[in-house]
Amino acid sequence: MQQTSGREGWSSRLAFLFAAIGSAVGLGNIWKFPYVTGVNGGGAVVIVYLGCVILVVIPILFGELLIGRRGGQSPANSMAALARSEGRHASWELLGWLGIIAAFLILTFYSVIAGWSLAYVFKTIRGAFEGIDAAGAGAIFDGLLADPFNLAMWHALFMGITVFVVGRGIQQGLERAVTIMLPSLFVILLILVGYAAIKGEFRLGVDFLFATDFSKIDANVVLIAVGQAFFSVSVGIGALMTYGAYLPKNVSIPRVSCVIAAADTLVAVLAGLAIFPIVFAYGLEPGEGPGLIFVTLPIAFGQMPGGTFIGTLFFLLLAFAALTSSISLLEPAVSRLEEKRGWKRGPVTAAAGAAAWLVGLGTVFSFNDWAGFSPLDGFPTFAGKTIFDLVEYLTSNVMLPLGGMMIAIFTGWLMAKSSTLDELGLKDGLVYQVWRFLVRFVSPVVLALVFAFNLT
Ligand code: PHE
Repeated sequence: MQQTSGREGWSSRLAFLFAAIGSAVGLGNIWKFPYVTGVNGGGAVVIVYLGCVILVVIPILFGELLIGRRGGQSPANSMAALARSEGRHASWELLGWLGIIAAFLILTFYSVIAGWSLAYVFKTIRGAFEGIDAAGAGAIFDGLLADPFNLAMWHALFMGITVFVVGRGIQQGLERAVTIMLPSLFVILLILVGYAAIKGEFRLGVDFLFATDFSKIDANVVLIAVGQAFFSVSVGIGALMTYGAYLPKNVSIPRVSCVIAAADTLVAVLAGLAIFPIVFAYGLEPGEGPGLIFVTLPIAFGQMPGGTFIGTLFFLLLAFAALTSSISLLEPAVSRLEEKRGWKRGPVTAAAGAAAWLVGLGTVFSFNDWAGFSPLDGFPTFAGKTIFDLVEYLTSNVMLPLGGMMIAIFTGWLMAKSSTLDELGLKDGLVYQVWRFLVRFVSPVVLALVFAFNLT
């Protein structure tokens, strides 16, 4: 059933792992996880997050990779092929399209925020934060956001790099980029954690992340943690499904799924351990929100000895992490376009990247000229949301969980048991049965509840 013939695949299992971990580790871990835990009081979110990764995200990741590899094509064509071979309705192809479109939409705003990290690499190198106070750091960030031209340029630079990598293909482009960047990212992260351990309030940081105050867990925290877990592990959309299509048959999907989820979680926790001890050491606020690493951390970098160096490393880390994710966000659309006869990877990548850049301008303007423009004010759930807020909400809170739920239903209920057993390379033993139970009952129910809460 594998139809990868003529398609380029990963050169090894390790190459796939690097790429998949690279996809998972991104702004979600280093920018979002720390601020989301910070805003919601620390440990409470972390524990729910961990539970969700194990019970919901990993089982769906099994499903997503198995669909990708069995289909062997872009998410849309893989789903169409599987629907056919499993005797299911042809409209399941739409699940593939949902993944492609969700990945594309995430890329449109992801690149804008990744652009901030590029801007900050240059700001920090030039010493813009030396000796700065809270007001000064806030002014620099506000100044960046207020200038749409500047934002659009950084967004273009980041998108351009993404297109360059993806355009070169799986082995020459994606694989090469991740084999350089992922190890570098881990080294930088460990240096930063080491620094935080020596110079920061490490104990306070650890307590903040791990001291679980169960009274802080409510429906809202669960909702946030579930959304964050999906986004962070890159599950529920076409990204890892597409990467799965290039996966050699002899690689164990259960094993790589666990490695991907574990590595992603490890990086999120390490990012927290790099950031919070420094925040506490300088008497700053952990609950700052999205500005935590763009406003709060620069204040600390500005005061600490060697802060210019450490700060530059930090924003470089962020940019690397974002790039290994953005390439996985562009790849699903490119893989689908490449399936059209005579369409070449180079030009379709450039076209898809240009389109994502253009749509991303909606996010760029959401921070300045259109900051007061909330197109869906008529609906209570969407009132006051800018274009950026809407795209982020639609992808993270609707499309990702919806895609995840559909993947769970398709692989758990609609695919023949023999097909999933075969593709997962498992015997009908404990591991398989636990997976099947989780993916049939636990994941869909949790996700249905998330929906019910989300949309009310
Ligand atoms: N997981 C990436 C991050 O943490 C974002 C992402 C989501 C990438 C979905 C691909 C697919 O930043």
